[in-house]
Amino acid sequence: MIETQEAVSEFGMVGLGVMGRNLLLNIAEHGRSVSGYDLGQDKVDALHSEAGGKPARGFTDLQAFVKSLKTPRCITMLVPAGDPVDQVIASFKPYLEPGDLLIDSGNSYYKDTDRRIEELAKTGIGFFGMGISGGESGARHGPSMMAGGSPEDYEKVRVPLELVAAKAEDGTPCVAHVGTGSAGHYVKMVHNGIEYGIMQLLGETYDLMHRGWGMSNAEIASTMDEWATSDLGGFLVEITAEVLKKKDDITGNDLVDMVKDEAKQKGTGKWTSQDAMDLRVPVPTIDAAVSARDMSDLKDERVIASKILQTQAGQPSKDLGLLRDALYVSMVASYAQGMCQLRAASTANKYGVKMAEVASIWRAGCIIRSALLKPIHQAFTENADLANLLIAPNLHNTVLQRLNSLRGLITQAINIHIPVPCYMASLAYIDGYASERLPANLTQSQRDYFGAHTYARIDKPGVFHTEWAEAK
Ligand code: 6PG
Repeated sequence: MIETQEAVSEFGMVGLGVMGRNLLLNIAEHGRSVSGYDLGQDKVDALHSEAGGKPARGFTDLQAFVKSLKTPRCITMLVPAGDPVDQVIASFKPYLEPGDLLIDSGNSYYKDTDRRIEELAKTGIGFFGMGISGGESGARHGPSMMAGGSPEDYEKVRVPLELVAAKAEDGTPCVAHVGTGSAGHYVKMVHNGIEYGIMQLLGETYDLMHRGWGMSNAEIASTMDEWATSDLGGFLVEITAEVLKKKDDITGNDLVDMVKDEAKQKGTGKWTSQDAMDLRVPVPTIDAAVSARDMSDLKDERVIASKILQTQAGQPSKDLGLLRDALYVSMVASYAQGMCQLRAASTANKYGVKMAEVASIWRAGCIIRSALLKPIHQAFTENADLANLLIAPNLHNTVLQRLNSLRGLITQAINIHIPVPCYMASLAYIDGYASERLPANLTQSQRDYFGAHTYARIDKPGVFHTEWAEAK
């Protein structure tokens, strides 16, 4: 720890919770002097004790913290999304100067980020949103970081961020300027939407194996371990295996069996779904994942309903190959939906997102890193305007070969009464996308029947209306 109070620190961090502290220590470890600020003395003490010999100083005094930073200052904040971000901005504004830079690294709502960029632009203080993924360990050892805003502001911090970011297999740092305005927070929001989809798919997979096929947690864990090294492997599959192996210190049981089945959420998955609706981009796997968390929260009602709504279930027939292939296809559907949403948002919000670059920085460090990100990255590198990953030349054959496994799995889940909303939504998404003609002709006819909303015809251009009701 450096004892001096001179302005020597290159990087400042507001919010010294575990994430903020770990990211700061990561930066310090790469030889950059850093300062951290938190109202809690305990957090500052924790920073000092964890810093060892690294150039990191902690402050509870805002002015002393600001003074400790080299100018132009660069301050990142890792505080809870919402009001706390506005409060930090308001309390720092009087002490900052034009040219200084504030970076919001929390999971902020992207519209708040746009508002903050606009407000701070009037003062000459730079501001941008940068989603960080990878949790506490990622922050400490190499996160994936999605920065948005002005490219000039990003350039001021690019080098240190590239130093601390996770590195993909080919050595590329998993950090990039993903677009203008609130693009950084938008990309992180969609990352989390995909995260929700894959987590729920893994939940349904576990449910089928455990409740449906009577497999023990240890057996499921060893299957997941095997899958983790295959083409559907990734961080979430790996941690699922670890979770299933963990014993409870209190009872000695498998810890996962002692955890209450009510999934909570902080909002990023819901925002992804809501915004996809606004953009009119279908993301049914993500929607189903959000709904599944909401359904889980109805614990008391579910207990009552489980006594009332019972019918005889069919015979299970364990088939791990079927399940594996169904999971692969549904995971591709989750990424495909998120990527479509991102492309539409980039056009609507003029972000200028480069899809291949986003896929590239998700290859390591983040929660949705997986073997699939390699072909996804390749698909967008080969065709920046790819309409949908499902039709990518390097993915569609595998999807097609495994699609019937998804059908078979869903059929069985229906018969044995295991709810698989994300698997079903993924199949419906693929079947819908692969349908040359959908029943929207009937929807249009109904709309025109009761509301004279008009319709288009297949045989000639124009807008048509018909008096559909037969005179009685
Ligand atoms: C990440 C995670 C991280 C956080 C989620 C949890 O990328 O590191 O996504 O941001 O764990 O926000 O979200 P929920 O509380 O909504 O599950």
